[in-house]
Amino acid sequence: MIEELVPDSMHVAERCSDATGEQLYPDELAHIRNAVAKRRDEFTTVRHCARVALRSLGLDRPSMVPGRAGAPPWPEGVIGSMTHCAGYRAAAVATRTTAASIGIDAEPNEPLPDGVLRMIARPAELRNLRALGAVDQEVCWDRLLFSAKESVYKAWYPLASRWLGFEDVDVHIRSGGTFEARLLVPGPSVAGRPLTHFSGRWRAVGRLLAVVVTA
Ligand SMILES: CC(C)(COP(=O)(O)OP(=O)(O)OC[C@H]1O[C@@H](n2cnc3c(N)ncnc32)[C@H](O)[C@@H]1OP(=O)(O)O)[C@@H](O)C(=O)NCCC(=O)NCCS
Repeated sequence: MIEELVPDSMHVAERCSDATGEQLYPDELAHIRNAVAKRRDEFTTVRHCARVALRSLGLDRPSMVPGRAGAPPWPEGVIGSMTHCAGYRAAAVATRTTAASIGIDAEPNEPLPDGVLRMIARPAELRNLRALGAVDQEVCWDRLLFSAKESVYKAWYPLASRWLGFEDVDVHIRSGGTFEARLLVPGPSVAGRPLTHFSGRWRAVGRLLAVVVTA
């Protein structure tokens, strides 16, 4: 899934089962002590994915208690992102020399619940989705737009340390498996220049949509 969307310099670990044997750190255990079983499972398995992906960089996994706004900490010099949805968990990592930031997201390839699309889509994005839907009905394009925006947020937050609304980004999806996410608000400085956009890749496999963005 996500592995096939990233260059060789990025490392991805994916799991479809929660039987990993991952040992959480004491502060992580304390963080999820009162969580429901589903949350404990996804929290633990995705951290196992992070452990496996970080090992590819020769690094141990640190304790990854969610920080400000839920963003997970990564080792110094490393960018990373995690996602979980029913039946799928993944983590992706790379060194900061590969990219400034990465965001990954997986979603079921199912239509968004009623009313969500109008809350997350701009007029140009609705036109983009209509054009895509006219040529391919296998992909739930509304869900893909949502996933693209969530992955953008995951890549944005570690750089900007502030909120980004669904209306603050204009996403243009291409049927071939790529998209561009243009920022409509001032972006943080990356390599001495203001960040203006994220580049994305996506694919639909079976009942899942997978998305990766980088800046
Ligand atoms: C944070 C958010 C994007 C997570 O997406 P999700 O589909 O609910 O959940 P996923 O399973 O795919 O990803 C969850 C993981 O995202 C990561 N994450 C959460 N908040 C994050 C943040 N602020 N920055 C980076 N990564 C974050 C965490 O690793 C989390 O897993 P964990 O809690 O086990 O550590 C979503 O809950 C949210 O707040 N969205 C609103 C903001 C937004 O999307 N704006 C659109 C801008 S265009």
